[in-house]
Amino acid sequence: MTAKIIDGTKIAEEIRGELKGKVDELRKQGITPGLVMVRVGEDPASVSYVRGKSKASEELGIYSETIVFPEDTKEEVVLAKVEELNKDPKFHGILVQLPLPKHIDSDKVLNAIDPKKDVDGFHPVNVGKLLIGEPYFLPCTPHGVQQLLIRSGYDPGGKHVVICGRSNIVGKPLMAILVQKKKGANATVTVCHTGTKDLAATTRQADILIAAMGSPKVITADMVREGAVVIDVGVNRIPDETKKSGYRLVGDTDFDAILEKAEAITPVPGGVGPMTVTMLMVNTVRAAEMRLAKKR
Ligand code: GUN
Repeated sequence: MTAKIIDGTKIAEEIRGELKGKVDELRKQGITPGLVMVRVGEDPASVSYVRGKSKASEELGIYSETIVFPEDTKEEVVLAKVEELNKDPKFHGILVQLPLPKHIDSDKVLNAIDPKKDVDGFHPVNVGKLLIGEPYFLPCTPHGVQQLLIRSGYDPGGKHVVICGRSNIVGKPLMAILVQKKKGANATVTVCHTGTKDLAATTRQADILIAAMGSPKVITADMVREGAVVIDVGVNRIPDETKKSGYRLVGDTDFDAILEKAEAITPVPGGVGPMTVTMLMVNTVRAAEMRLAKKR
C-alpha cells in the first residue's frame, strides 16, 4: 500500500477561494480587513514566514503592513507599538512574529495584544476561551491541521489522535481543538512529550498521528500503525549542498518509509505549512467581521 498524499497547497487554495468571497463582501460594505505584523530582528525563517503572510494578504485583498524593528530594540518600544496598534482601527489583526530576541519577554508582548485582535490566538484569554470551547480565534497551525483532516476525508470524530509535542503553538492547542464535543473534533486525544516512557508503544495506537516535535525525521515507520493517517507539522532545515540555498526542508517524520505503511500522510513542504498562512487569513477576516457585528 502506498499512502495517499494530503495536499496542503490544494486544500489551502480551496479555503482561500471561499475566503475571497467574504473579503469581497466586507469590502463592498466599506471594510477592508487589515493585518499588521511585527518582526524584531532578521531571523531568516521569520523573514520568510512574514513575507509569505504579507503575500497571502495581498492576494486576498486584505490590507497588510509589516513593522520591522532591529534586533536590539528595547522591550518597552515593542510594547508601546503593540499598544498603539491595539487602538489603530485600520488593523483588525495583530501578529508578533516569534521567536523574539532573548532580551524581550515574549509572554509580556503577547499579553499586551488586544484579545479581539489576537489573530494568532496566543493571548491567555484566547487560550482559555479555546479550552472551554468558545474561541474568538483558533490558533493557525492547529486549525490548519484540523481542516486538513476534515477536508481530506479523515474526520477526527471518535478516532484516537496521538499528538507528539506539547508546545503552546501546536501540541496543546491542537489537543484543545480536537477534544471538544463539536463537529470535526470529538476525538480521544493523547499528548506525548519528552517525559513519555514508551513513545513508540503510544504512537502505534494512533488512528491519526500528529508529529509536532520540531526534530527532523524522529517519527519512524516502526512507530506508525498500518493504515494510520499521519500529519507532519515539522519544518526543519537540514544542510543540502545540492540546493542553491544550502539547505532543504524536512518534517518530523521519515516520510519515504512511512509512505509504505500509512493510509495517508502530509508532505513537507506542501502539507501543513500553506494551511498555517491560510488560517491566519481566516482569522483576520473573522476579526473584521467581529468588529462589524459589534457596530450593528
Ligand atoms: N513562529 C512560528 N510559528 C508562528 C506563528 O504561528 N505565529 C507567530 N506569531 N510566530 C510564529
